[in-house]
Amino acid sequence: MKKTPLIIDCDPGVDDVLAIVMAKYVDKFDIKAITSVSGNVGIDLTTRNAQLIAGLLDLNCIVARGAEEPLVKPKREAGHVHGADGIGGTLEMFPKDCGKDLSKDSALNVLRDTLMKSDEKVSIVAIGPLTNIGLLLKTYPEVKEKIEVISIMGGAINNGNATPCSEYNFLVDPEAASIVYKSGVPLIMAGINLTVKVTLTDENLEEIKKIGTNLSEIGHKMILDYTKDDPAIHDPCAVLALSHPEMFEWEDLYVQIDTREGFTQGMSYADYRLRDPKKPNCRVLTNIDLDKFRRFTVESFK
Ligand code: RIB
Ligand code: CA
Repeated sequence: MKKTPLIIDCDPGVDDVLAIVMAKYVDKFDIKAITSVSGNVGIDLTTRNAQLIAGLLDLNCIVARGAEEPLVKPKREAGHVHGADGIGGTLEMFPKDCGKDLSKDSALNVLRDTLMKSDEKVSIVAIGPLTNIGLLLKTYPEVKEKIEVISIMGGAINNGNATPCSEYNFLVDPEAASIVYKSGVPLIMAGINLTVKVTLTDENLEEIKKIGTNLSEIGHKMILDYTKDDPAIHDPCAVLALSHPEMFEWEDLYVQIDTREGFTQGMSYADYRLRDPKKPNCRVLTNIDLDKFRRFTVESFK
């Protein structure tokens, strides 16, 4: 079966790791590159964690280090959710030296080169702050025609998690998110309005634990640690939106991002006006087949 060329831009992060595991499991992607960005934890740790999971899964892809801080706003981290190591305290469970080598090129150059060298359009899963992607689109606008779609975990419609208005990834780098949403590139958005519904049951966790592989033991521990603070599993939705769109309901809407500092920083809001709403720039996911998600998540660790 022909596989879709894919780049994953991420800030691993427990749910980022789950998204990468899912991307391999669904077996529909040719994962060309994994690029790191500062977000859940600092760039050194998100980069190392990307190398670890790429190595553990034996992915035939480039791993490249990305932006260490947002385009404009001061840096933020969420180690209280993802653990000091960024992967739910599982660092010591990874086999020694399993990490994939790091590209000597920056994430920005790997993103550009991977897109421009591809004979076909490449899909991007963006599941951290959008700093790398915003920088890419501003620095090398010629890549836009080589992007099939950017499937984003970020933002929210009418709710938030990091603040009452804003989801974490967009709060961290609202300028980058605004660049992406104004770019004209096809977008899919798995926002908090969707992902807040996406949880695993205790039974699911027990099923993962019973698998008994190194990967499943790591998965079980990191999910247990992460869900003590956040029960929602956000990032895999951006992968499944590409591999299994039938799992979702959506609305095509015009979404814009508030880049002002203060209470609404990073807020993403949709144009629901009945008269003359702006032309949609994004497919906003609104619902998910949760049973299928849970089944996929357990199966992905086998
Ligand atoms: O708000 C949830 C998002 O922020 C997820 O991508 C999580 O990994 C963090 O990056
Ligand atoms: Ca993330």
